Order: sequence, then structure tokens, then C-alpha cells
Amino acid sequence: MSPPTPDRILQTGMAFWGSKALLSAVELGLFTTLAQDGPLTGEELRERLGLHPRAVPDFPDTLLALGFLEREGDGVAATYRNTAETATFLDRRSPAYVGGILEMANARLYGFWNSLTEGLRTGVPQNEAKTGGDLFGSIYGTPESLKGFLQAMTGLSAGAGRAMAAKFPWKKYKTFIDVGGAQGGVAVQLALAHKHLSGGNYDLAVVGPIFEEYVRSFKLDGRLKFHPGDFFKDPLPSSDVIIMGHILHDWNLEEKRALVAKTYKALPKGGAYIIHEAIIDDDRRKNAFGLLMSLNMLIETPGGFDYTGADGQGWMKDAGFRKTRVVPLAGPDSMLIGVK
Ligand SMILES: C[S@@+](CC[C@H](N)C(=O)[O-])C[C@H]1O[C@@H](n2cnc3c(N)ncnc32)[C@H](O)[C@@H]1O
Repeated sequence: MSPPTPDRILQTGMAFWGSKALLSAVELGLFTTLAQDGPLTGEELRERLGLHPRAVPDFPDTLLALGFLEREGDGVAATYRNTAETATFLDRRSPAYVGGILEMANARLYGFWNSLTEGLRTGVPQNEAKTGGDLFGSIYGTPESLKGFLQAMTGLSAGAGRAMAAKFPWKKYKTFIDVGGAQGGVAVQLALAHKHLSGGNYDLAVVGPIFEEYVRSFKLDGRLKFHPGDFFKDPLPSSDVIIMGHILHDWNLEEKRALVAKTYKALPKGGAYIIHEAIIDDDRRKNAFGLLMSLNMLIETPGGFDYTGADGQGWMKDAGFRKTRVVPLAGPDSMLIGVK
């Protein structure tokens, strides 16, 4: 047995340095600039982004050392360009852009997480709610913040949508509704992968135009429709499959059970319910992202929390679902499937 080292402790303790360097690069549009105009020298990049001379070469070299940039040549003539990953996922013009979630993390969560200790002591949300707002009320307050949030959800869920398209037996079903489907990140991936499927997004009315614009950009408006409604007050539309992604974790246990029961009622016999998010492993030891997400729900909501596959399957069984199973999707995400 080798003696313990403090390496991992220090790495995690200081991980916010690297995190903020990446978030600031996204905020500044560094990867988009390099995708458009790169390769660029440090000085050219500094000018384009409007940075102080002290920012170079340390800022781009830090991103290089973290694996987010490549560099060729030496000294002041050295040029920087994107890696394959940053060119694909952090160029704002790329259809695979995942920076929306990072922009949201940078603008909101990074500051709110500074109050994690207070949240842990009090159990009280540490976001806009602290000053009298509520999560969706404040995010949905202006068209820009609404669009930013919905795009962020696409960044978070499009990968899970692609995996869901591959790992669920869609041939057996014709229609689906994504409840709380936001911009349509998942719905679009499903419709692209399965031409026989038609479906929609059931979400708050204000989301409609942003969903419809996104769907039109993929020419899927013939098959994907918007259904306005409030999932606590209004009935859910019926369809063969009902999906809820990153919905249950926003709410307390009673509200979670109410949503599961309502979904059961809305489905036909044989219909399927797919819940997807960073579902925690049953032993609560491995899915660190899922557990951190649950702490994020403490920061963001009055009673929300993430949960294990066993928890979710229990709620489904209690609501009447016959068969349930957990299927891993991409990264920390899994889907929980219940068949009526
Ligand atoms: C955290 S986002 C999840 C988005 C998407 N399902 C995903 O996984 O990326 C929550 C979504 O639920 C919607 N929502 C919140 N409260 C709602 C309600 N009462 N009725 C319908 N939709 C609601 C929000 O507008 C938002 O699109």
C-alpha cells in the first residue's frame, strides 16, 4: 500500500480555478472566435476578446494545459486553435454547442454555489429566491434569460436524447410528449433518429415560440408540436410515451409522486414513461455528478432533490406501473422506464 498523498484533495479543492477559466473563455466567446478566425497569436486573441495585456499568454496557455486549446510555434509568434472537442462543442455556431449550460453556470450557479455552506446549514435555496424571486419566475423574467436557460437545457440534454433514441425500443411506439421539454433538445434528437415518430413538448406557454423556432431550424415542425400547459394544474396530453427530463428533481417528494401518478393516468395501457436525469446509483457511492446535482437542487429549489433508480422505480410501482427498469444513457445520465 503506497502512503496517501494530498493530490486529490488539492485538485478538487482548487478545481474552481480551472472551472472558472473555462467558463470565462466561454463567456468571452474565445472558442467561437478561434473557430471563426483562428489560428491566432496570443496578441491577436487578446485584441479580439478585448483583454488586458496581463491576460496573455497565461490565459490561453492555461486553457492549453487544461486540454481545451492547441498551440503551434514558439514565443509571441505561437498560434492557438481549438481542439477537436472545443471546435465541436464550444463554437456558438455549431449545432452541437453545449456552452449554453456553461453560460448559465457562469452567470448564475458559479455565484450561488458560493453560498453552499449557508444552504447546507439552513436548507434554504441560495439563488434568486433569496431576494424574493422564484427559480422559473426569475429565469423566465426576460426573453434573453428565458432563451438562455432553454438553450442551456439543450446543452445538458441533447446527448441524453441521442442515447435515448438508440436505447429505447421506439419501433413499438408512434407518439411521444416531452413534458417540460424546454427548447426541444431531446424531442429533436428523437425525431431526427426515428422518422415514424411524431410528438411534442408540453411546457409553460412562454416556452412555445422558442421551441417552435428551434424545431423549425431542423425542419421538424410537421412532426413536433407545442402543447402549452402547467403540469401541476392542467391534464397531460395523452401519447404512447411520456418523457420527463430534469423535471422530477426540481420538486419535493410529494410533488414527485403527484407527477408520476399524473403520468400514469395520462398513458394508455402499454404506454411508457421515460424519466431521465443524473439518476444516482442505488448504493449512492459512484454518481458524483448526480449527487452534486442534488446539492444544486438545494441551491435552486425549496424541496428538490435527485434520487436513485430504486427510489424512482418505487414511486413508479406505487403509481401502478407494471414493469420498470433503469438504462444508462450518456455520462452520468440514466433513464428510468416504466410501462403501464
Ligand atoms: C430543468 S428544465 C428541463 C428541460 C428538459 N426536459 C431537459 O431535460 O433538458 C425544466 C422544464 O420544465 C418546465 N416547467 C417548469 N414548471 C412547469 C410547469 N408547472 N408546467 C409545465 N412545464 C414546466 C420549464 O419551463 C422547463 O422547460
